[in-house]
Amino acid sequence: MCGIFGCILRTGEAASTIHEGLKKLEYRGYDSVGIATIQGRQLFLKKDRGKIDEVHEIHNLDALPGQLGIGHTRWATHGAAYQENAHPHTDCKNQVAVVHNGIIENFVELKAELEELGHTFRSKTDTEVIPHLIEEKLKEGLSLVEAVRETVKRLDGSYAIAVISVKEPDKLVCARKESPLVLGVAEDSLYIASDIPAFLPKTNKSAIIQDGEIAVLSDEGYEIRKTLDWKLVTREPEVIDWAPEMAEKQGYPHFMLKEIHEQPLRLRNTLRLQDQYLELMTTFLDRAGEVFLVACGTSYHACLAASYMFSKVALLATHPVVASEFVEQHGKSVNIDSTLLVVSQSGETADTLAAVESARLRAATVLGLTNIVGSTLTRVARVYISQQSGPEIGVAATKTFTSQLSVLSQLALRLAKKRGKISHVEIENLEEKLEQIPEIVESVILSQEEKVKRLAKKYRGKPCFFFLGRGISSAVALEGRLKLMEIAYLPSLAYPAGESKHGPISLVESGFPVVFVCPKDGTHKTVIGNIMEMKARGASIIVVVEKGDEEIKSLADDYLEVETGLPEVLSPIPFVVPLQLFAYYMAIERECDPDKPRNLAKSVTVK
Ligand code: G6P
Repeated sequence: MCGIFGCILRTGEAASTIHEGLKKLEYRGYDSVGIATIQGRQLFLKKDRGKIDEVHEIHNLDALPGQLGIGHTRWATHGAAYQENAHPHTDCKNQVAVVHNGIIENFVELKAELEELGHTFRSKTDTEVIPHLIEEKLKEGLSLVEAVRETVKRLDGSYAIAVISVKEPDKLVCARKESPLVLGVAEDSLYIASDIPAFLPKTNKSAIIQDGEIAVLSDEGYEIRKTLDWKLVTREPEVIDWAPEMAEKQGYPHFMLKEIHEQPLRLRNTLRLQDQYLELMTTFLDRAGEVFLVACGTSYHACLAASYMFSKVALLATHPVVASEFVEQHGKSVNIDSTLLVVSQSGETADTLAAVESARLRAATVLGLTNIVGSTLTRVARVYISQQSGPEIGVAATKTFTSQLSVLSQLALRLAKKRGKISHVEIENLEEKLEQIPEIVESVILSQEEKVKRLAKKYRGKPCFFFLGRGISSAVALEGRLKLMEIAYLPSLAYPAGESKHGPISLVESGFPVVFVCPKDGTHKTVIGNIMEMKARGASIIVVVEKGDEEIKSLADDYLEVETGLPEVLSPIPFVVPLQLFAYYMAIERECDPDKPRNLAKSVTVK
């Protein structure tokens, strides 16, 4: 969690550049913010709790002198969101400033040891041990780089850190272990950040700092070394082909809405995946003794839908598992014949990576599907596929979900072909419909958005919603509910429709809104029965149906429509779109900020 940014400039002031970079990292956390710069031999620092704009309004973050500095946007882990817990953290003498993303697991012991040595701590954070450890090492006469190296050797846990010190005012030293850190290289400036879009307006040349490496930035350039043996690493920056405006809102009021609208384009990209990776992954899946689909949040919902895809198309039984439960539930039974297909937009989710690590230790095969090339998942997976969604800034995943569904359906189809489990006619139909999905999604957005706005106005005062669906649509119901709950703060439930009779129906009374996801697949008739059960108890029925499904429309109070004639396993892609829009417009109606839902972060790098 948290975003870090640092820079060394030849011209201009670092503070405003850092401020700009942090804005692009706000999706990683936004409960407090801070910047430290150095000019001459003096350290300047401003930090406070609150979103960047709020803190800037009070403190004017840009008014810090110097061409070198670091900044941080925080998502609290150790220590509540108070000013003293905001980063950067400093040593006793305010000579060293540190920003950190990750968790120092042994900070209690380290803090006790440092207090014993006379250090005074100002915050409740784990991070603050870092500047004090560096201070100790500097006292011993080590250079800043050596002090950082000796310090990180003592840290257990995960970290991406950036350090500056008045002792060596021309250097910015960074280190990484299990938290993302990328270097941006321009003609006359250097950047360090948690994610590439943060410096993309300044440079499109980037090198990834790997685990166990330290990078030293100075006026003369950068140097990367292995922390343990101090070997020099030669890593030329690569050119990133994301245009800076790709990471901007492009005229939409929020990133989430822009990203919902971007889906047709992104879905087209996912149809151009490199054949060899799809084929390799399919071969691993084919050989697997058992397949686990492992993920968190929205990516888990993609896995749930994928379990229906693999089962229905390729006749492969898989186990979708929430990553945080994987080790407890399956850790001991995993073996060399097990394969994990791990889905993570960020490729950095701590629970997901913990599941991967435990499975790797038991010799299981790990396959990855992620949006971030260079993420930890891409490095630990035997094979990975990049889902090609482009950067997603809105905390609520939208375009990355539909891209994941597209890739997973392609894998299921390929596996079915390999296993000879599907007829030529079915293959042709699925391939043809996959090609049409981008246009279908486009027409759903175009035809349904205004209607969704009206529905949001109509239902804005309802305190709770049900989302129901059968079969593969139960995964869509879960995702629709997650979107509404996380950005409009509406307590909501989602169930496989058949299960709704076993408890949740007791909540239903006159006017209680129940959203049904009902494609015209094998579940259609039974879903009608479930709608009737809810209607009989006075529920307000909102349905997402195929165009022309008059039977279900006639039972509903309100309906949203999707093009007709989609194969069952592809239906989640267009069917989730009206629910994404519904969540967005409900958030707007309820005056919530859909891009920055409280307490949530885009990338959850703590367990
Ligand atoms: C966080 C995000 C969700 C995301 C989940 C898993 O909770 O807010 O949008 O689905 O993490 O993230 P991943 O990057 O592993 O897909």
